[in-house]
Amino acid sequence: MTAFVLGATGFVGREVVRQLCVRGAAPIAHVRPDSSKLADWQTTFGEQGATVDTTPWDVAQLAARFKALFAAGAGQLYILIGTTRGKAKAEAVEGDIYEKIDLGLTQLAVDAVKRSETRPRIVYLSSVGADPKARSAYLSARGKAEQVVISSGVPYVIARPSIITGERDESRIGEKTAAVVGDGLLAVAGVFGGKKLRDRFRSTTGDVLASALIRLGEDPATDKIVDGADLR
Ligand SMILES: NC(=O)c1ccc[n+]([C@@H]2O[C@H](COP(=O)([O-])OP(=O)(O)OC[C@H]3O[C@@H](n4cnc5c(N)ncnc54)[C@H](OP(=O)(O)O)[C@@H]3O)[C@@H](O)[C@H]2O)c1
Repeated sequence: MTAFVLGATGFVGREVVRQLCVRGAAPIAHVRPDSSKLADWQTTFGEQGATVDTTPWDVAQLAARFKALFAAGAGQLYILIGTTRGKAKAEAVEGDIYEKIDLGLTQLAVDAVKRSETRPRIVYLSSVGADPKARSAYLSARGKAEQVVISSGVPYVIARPSIITGERDESRIGEKTAAVVGDGLLAVAGVFGGKKLRDRFRSTTGDVLASALIRLGEDPATDKIVDGADLR
């Protein structure tokens, strides 16, 4: 089975690639063609046993790639993409950054799958609280992106984790603090019977989440949205 990872260079994506390699799945790790770290990723992913793919973010070109890769049958397309305020600023992304990147690139990837007329299982990394009607621009874009995946007609699993912690390239103090404080409060809630609430909002780590995404992606079960304990 072919596993193609969009967002392979991200915190979660690189762990998905690593774990797929350990399992002998020889995944394809997508790296943007203009990445300043392309040579480093070629080395890192190559040593792990993954193939680097630098197809541009273009519907026709990605569709042609998917057609070649997935035409033979089942496989997984991981969409583990998203920006942050810091990254978008550094890249001079204008307007609503989450609509442009988180939603825009998901739409592009899904359009490419549809155009390729193949049916890989889409494994979409969303977020707890995703909702098209959310007041938060981030959660609203995530909710709309989920709708794009759900209405695609292609098999899918959508993961909605809470905060993802671990050692990142860049420091995210806010996330770390939110995870520590939130987990403490949720532990108290768990003691007083709020187990579902605790499971849904408790932080997770990149390696635990990656392993759950792979398990869900390879599961031939029907389409679903997963959160909480099912992502551990
Ligand atoms: N962090 C959390 O606590 C959390 C919680 C719940 C859900 N999530 C969701 O999960 C997603 C993945 O998380 P993560 O921690 O792995 O994120 P991350 O480390 O920031 O990785 C994001 C990925 O998206 C790619 N990307 C960003 N902007 C791009 C652009 N303009 N064009 C092409 N590729 C672009 C990055 O590529 P480059 O490396 O080339 O920039 C990278 O591969 C997030 O975007 C977020 O929405 C995160």
